Amino acid sequence: MPLSSALNPNPLPPEPVTAADQTVAHLGAAAPAFAIEWIAECDSTNRVLLDRPPPADARMEVLVANRQLEGRGRRGRQWQSWPGGSLTFSLRRNFAADAPVPGGLSLVAGLAVARALDGLGAPEIMLKWPNDILYQDQKLGGILVELLAGRSRAMSAVIGIGINLSLPPEMNVVGQSGITDLASAMPAPPSAAALLAAILLELQHVLDTYELAGFPALRNAWQRRNAHAGDQVRVSSESGNLEGICIGVDDDGALLLAQDGVVQRVLAGDVSLRPVIVGPK
Ligand code: BTN
Repeated sequence: MPLSSALNPNPLPPEPVTAADQTVAHLGAAAPAFAIEWIAECDSTNRVLLDRPPPADARMEVLVANRQLEGRGRRGRQWQSWPGGSLTFSLRRNFAADAPVPGGLSLVAGLAVARALDGLGAPEIMLKWPNDILYQDQKLGGILVELLAGRSRAMSAVIGIGINLSLPPEMNVVGQSGITDLASAMPAPPSAAALLAAILLELQHVLDTYELAGFPALRNAWQRRNAHAGDQVRVSSESGNLEGICIGVDDDGALLLAQDGVVQRVLAGDVSLRPVIVGPK
């Protein structure tokens, strides 16, 4: 009989290692900066964090759900995800009352995701204004930032991130669905916990920079990943369509389009490549 059983005939089974525990292990020394909760399901991780009272301590709250029943996307859309096939989480970050106005926050979050994926060995992750994470021009993930203004004019941001880890086969028709997954980008994708930890570390870094120096400090880094730099694009929004050459973003994170020598600032909308119309020869 093994010694431990001889001493204690009814030993408790060891606690299972949860995905939250694994994330904490990946975070190492940075773990105390985060309060991580990993749940089976909720309607939307953004919604849950937005409705919670502010945390009692200074840690960044992170809520991860294996399944979202009403995942929210940009501009009132739904965000679809698949249990086990997606990483869906939100992080709440409080900003000092004198922090810069929140222009460019979703761009900054996209940069953090792209850097995390680089660090894990993913090839060429690009960003599409304002919030898409692209691999080979297909959407790998998206970001939804929702803001809460506090009593002292301090601001909290809930940054919601969804990444496709492995899509169901019917969705993963390259070039047709417009979406892709990490399994297509990497032969040995990281676990959800390892990916989450890598993104949290990068988020911590870029959000600290953002709080101190605003989006201008990160603008060039974003522009180097701009999937549509120099392309003829169309931006569609509630107020109509705009077309022009995408020349980057300004210090507030607004998209800059050049149209007949005039630069237009775009604050909201969906960007698509302008179809090339080939006329008769
Ligand atoms: C988009 O591309 O339209 C943004 C998608 C953002 C999805 C994430 S998943 C986690 C968080 N909770 C939500 O309800 N939405 C965001």
